[in-house]
Amino acid sequence: LPPTIRQLLSSPTSPSSSVQVNGWIKSVRRQKKLSFAVISDGSSAPGLQAVFVDPSLAKGLTNGASVRLTGKLVESPGAGQEHELQVDAVDVLGACDPETYPIQKQALSVDYLRDNAHLRARTDAVTAMLRVRDQTLQTLHGYLKSQGFSYTHTPILTSSDCEGAGEAFRIAPITPVSLDSPSAPPEEFFSRPSYLTVSSQLHLEALAAAISRVYTLSPCFRAERSQTNRHLAEFWMLEAEWAFTQSVDEVCQVVEGAIKEIIQRGDADMALRDTLLDISHSDRPWTRMSYAVAVSELEKYHESSTKKFAFPPAWGKTLQSEHERWLADELVRGPVFVTDYPVSLKPFYMRLNDDGKTVACFDLLIPRVGELVGGSLREERLGHLKQALDAHGLSREEYGWYLDLRKYGSAPHGGFGLGFERLIGWLSGIENVRECIPMPRWAGRMLL
Ligand code: 4AD
Ligand code: MG
Repeated sequence: LPPTIRQLLSSPTSPSSSVQVNGWIKSVRRQKKLSFAVISDGSSAPGLQAVFVDPSLAKGLTNGASVRLTGKLVESPGAGQEHELQVDAVDVLGACDPETYPIQKQALSVDYLRDNAHLRARTDAVTAMLRVRDQTLQTLHGYLKSQGFSYTHTPILTSSDCEGAGEAFRIAPITPVSLDSPSAPPEEFFSRPSYLTVSSQLHLEALAAAISRVYTLSPCFRAERSQTNRHLAEFWMLEAEWAFTQSVDEVCQVVEGAIKEIIQRGDADMALRDTLLDISHSDRPWTRMSYAVAVSELEKYHESSTKKFAFPPAWGKTLQSEHERWLADELVRGPVFVTDYPVSLKPFYMRLNDDGKTVACFDLLIPRVGELVGGSLREERLGHLKQALDAHGLSREEYGWYLDLRKYGSAPHGGFGLGFERLIGWLSGIENVRECIPMPRWAGRMLL
């Protein structure tokens, strides 16, 4: 393959050799003797400056057109770039009518770009986000590999709602099934209700019980109706699960190690990298704080401050996003692992602590975002797990396979799930997760 613009700029060819550059025109500037254009293939920001000594070559160029430029890569006399392309020949591969092209050069609103989801990747902000997603993923793969994890795949179609929050999408075939036809499959395609996965965790647990350390990056689906800047109906979750883990703190360490590595390896596309190196306290461990302590801090603030929370905090109540934000943004001023939530607030699978009231879990809260990661030790004791299923009104029969994992060679284990779009938003300074995924879906909205 010919080099991308990023490859070309990172190992420039000799000024005497001819190169071909493919990309889209981002801007054109015509002067009397010279013309300039910026060409981008999305591989790096901001693209490559092309100089036309013969301005007639630049004649047919318009913003958005796809082109192949042939020329020489030379040192740039102008400020702003080290190299530029001196163009000898232009091939316009796909013209673009500048009058009707929806991606004009002036600033376009977030809503306008959401309405043009098929074209918005052509803006610099979205191509940068796409590169950050890729970069982050590569670092995660490398980090988890270095810790002995295997990358694996879990089903999208499932028979259970892992989180038990009632937010799963139920699926059905598009063609109605005829009950009269003998060859017809049963009314339920899989002979039982089936859903799109909300989390890969339960399946990962089965695999961790065989190859010890596993992770996956999977789309997750949740019929989440609230319109917030943190929720999508389809989002990606990085989930890791491992056997023989010792403590919640060990799970937190893996999460912390991975995120710190991502920040350290990040490049200029990660808009907030420098700030993050600072607020993520790369030189010292992140704060750990029990739910009980977090609640008492919240209560103290709520009682003493003139600014009140909309939801008064109290032990046993869910931490609202206003509480999470205050803990990370104001109290700790950095990431904080809140651990040991009341058993009544968490799903059935979390390991009961000795106090009988809390579970061995954590939520990682980060500034500006709130909850980024949730994780826990899993209940590996058969008797306790059966009781937890009963307490949550879940059927022991339906979870028979999950109980089997505890019957046969049960090992202490734990893991976590990290919301990939929330991470990208934090790294890039993007406010809404809808701008952290190429084609967002949320309640009421699926354009393409
Ligand atoms: O806290 P959650 O629901 O945890 C689980 O699903 C566990 N089974 C994960 C595990 O331990 N393997 O989701 C984990 C993370 C959240 O902290 C959040 O970052 C993200 O997934 N998340 C969402 N991101 C975007 N849109 C949504 N609707 C999300 N719901 C959760
Ligand atoms: Mg959670």
